[in-house]
Amino acid sequence: MSSEIENHDELNPSSNTPFSTVLDRHLSRRKIMQGGLGMACASMFAGFGLPGAIKHAMANTAKAPTFTLGFESIAGAMTDGVVVPPGYTAQVLVPWGSSLSASGQQWSQTLELTPEFQANAMGMHHDGMYHFPLSIDKASSDFLLAINHEYIDQSALWSPKGGPTHQDEGARPADEVRTEINAHGVCVVRISKNAEGHWHMVKDDAHNKRYTSATPMVLAGPVRGSEYVKTAWSPDGTRVRGTNNNCASGYTPWGTYLTCEENWPEVFINTGEMTDDQRRLGLRDDRGRYAWETATGGAQGEFERFNNTPSGDSALQDYRNEARGFGYVVEIDPYAPSSSAHKRTALGRFRHEGCWPGKVVEGEPLTFYTGHDSRNEYIYKFVSKKRWRAQDANRPGERYDRQAIGDSYMNEGTLYVARFDADGRGEWLALTPDSTIPGGGPKGERTLGDVFGDQAGIIINTCDAADLMGATPMDRPEWGTVDPGTGDVFMSLTNNSKRTAHGTDPEYTESGASAEALGVGYKTAPVNASNPRPDNEYGQVLRWREGTSAAEFTWEVFLFGSAADASPAVNRSGLTDANQFASPDGLWFDQRSDDGAGILWIETDNGIDKGRTNAVAEATNDQVLACIPGALGEGYTDLKRFAVGPNACEITGIFATPDRTALFVNIQHPGNWPVPGSSDATAIASGQVRPRAATVVIQKSDGGKVGV
Ligand code: FEO
Ligand code: CA
Ligand code: CA
Repeated sequence: MSSEIENHDELNPSSNTPFSTVLDRHLSRRKIMQGGLGMACASMFAGFGLPGAIKHAMANTAKAPTFTLGFESIAGAMTDGVVVPPGYTAQVLVPWGSSLSASGQQWSQTLELTPEFQANAMGMHHDGMYHFPLSIDKASSDFLLAINHEYIDQSALWSPKGGPTHQDEGARPADEVRTEINAHGVCVVRISKNAEGHWHMVKDDAHNKRYTSATPMVLAGPVRGSEYVKTAWSPDGTRVRGTNNNCASGYTPWGTYLTCEENWPEVFINTGEMTDDQRRLGLRDDRGRYAWETATGGAQGEFERFNNTPSGDSALQDYRNEARGFGYVVEIDPYAPSSSAHKRTALGRFRHEGCWPGKVVEGEPLTFYTGHDSRNEYIYKFVSKKRWRAQDANRPGERYDRQAIGDSYMNEGTLYVARFDADGRGEWLALTPDSTIPGGGPKGERTLGDVFGDQAGIIINTCDAADLMGATPMDRPEWGTVDPGTGDVFMSLTNNSKRTAHGTDPEYTESGASAEALGVGYKTAPVNASNPRPDNEYGQVLRWREGTSAAEFTWEVFLFGSAADASPAVNRSGLTDANQFASPDGLWFDQRSDDGAGILWIETDNGIDKGRTNAVAEATNDQVLACIPGALGEGYTDLKRFAVGPNACEITGIFATPDRTALFVNIQHPGNWPVPGSSDATAIASGQVRPRAATVVIQKSDGGKVGV
């Protein structure tokens, strides 16, 4: 995501204690590492002076990489094309507006979109994505691609008529609103590679399907059927229309796609008195982001639902609860286009970036990691009650009730939020009715149940519950990824302009006095061990490993983003012109050998569409980097720049085919790309084009494995 819809100021208040000696400790360790091990060690706790528990956690995990990155770091670039290393190609695939059908209207640079066209075409602003094989044999050449369409660029969407109508005042035309709603959501589409290595959409395939911000969906888990989500359209609180601002992706071991709702609060308004959860998450009080609530002429609250101001005698007569159907991890079965998406409310309600499964072990509970992307918000995990059974694993291409399997793993379990301690340990804090609140609640309550009632109440108010439990405010959690061998989790913390210096007092949203107050979160927070740089404009990548119980873990800062010429206090990983980066966002651990060694791919979102406001942005567009992580505490080798995107874009969404011959990434909000009529992602337009987000497939010209 970026720019236009970004609002990372909402959120979090709690009173976590500043760390008094963390920076000094970190810097002294860093000097030791630089002297002894060079830049291979970027981690904060690289084996020096570690508590015994951490040393134990690191034991027997060393893995010497059995391969190296087979390309030279490319130079930074600021062009209107994608740049890849010599010997590689980059193909544009399924750009915004590509029809899912071969017949009927097709995209053109001057096409004025209608609700009907957009409902059957690729949405805007591709973000997270994942692949789902239809067969084992063709898993790398013919599969289903699920893609999030995070938000819209109204100037590109409405360029044939000069822009949107009545965006800032007055009533929006109903069909413009419907078109915009249909440009959001998710697309599942079959893609295939021909003998020449060129990829294409299989138009009219029976699996092709759009989910939009109006598609009816099922509410599942603790919130289902509760008073919190009953509306005039769903009086029993079991359904909701649409998924919105779908950011990063995830997947399950049983073959379903997870799409996560991030910056949804701003499409809803409440012009009256806000509820605690509305204040905590940041609903608007005047006009929605696209003023969808102003349109008229719909039925069953088609547009009125975006206005959550109570107007009836009860929740069954209006849409005061509509937004409580948003803020979730949403499960889609790509193999079953007739099935309904399920909102998995047990995994918490906030501005979800994405959701990633932990290491999958027969007979053990499943774990899913997820983060809240806003300044000074938190990292969470969900641990299933049910233990994994291999017989539930995906059977590619078959149609059966995967949502029933999802019900069995994702509706019951425990939601935790993370506290990162200065000694390299951490604790997962359960968010359950019987969780004891440290120091008590705002009115002296003892447990979360005393404050919020049942689990549904905790889920609706996830952020306030996490505040009360003393979670650690983070520098905007973005993507996570899991090393399938060790189970180590990597998560990017993209940046934080509201991270203040050591010793400063936090400030709170809503003019609150503390994080314990309901509806109030941290506006600013002082540095802490896992977020050690004030006014953090470059971001970092964390890594952690679960402990012997579900409540404990150990962690390190794996890698700090920085400009090459920044001071040592900022450029803590010793980055150079060849690999400087800012605002890590997309991550993917790409296992490449049986011993577990792999490539960690890192994508960036440096906000360049809003101007080149830092030294990295003055040197390069957003990029894809690669490194080979060592064992926990041993840093990485070979951090190299692999690809650079066109001007103004961010790069997001990532996976490779199982044979590793094709790497898929998404180019979101480009300024002047791609070239109409060309599938060459490296081509540069001669004039201004109507920009289109698109997937890019990066392959070697000789058909070999990417990256090595
Ligand atoms: Fe949609 Fe946090 O990026
Ligand atoms: Ca992101
Ligand atoms: Ca609070």
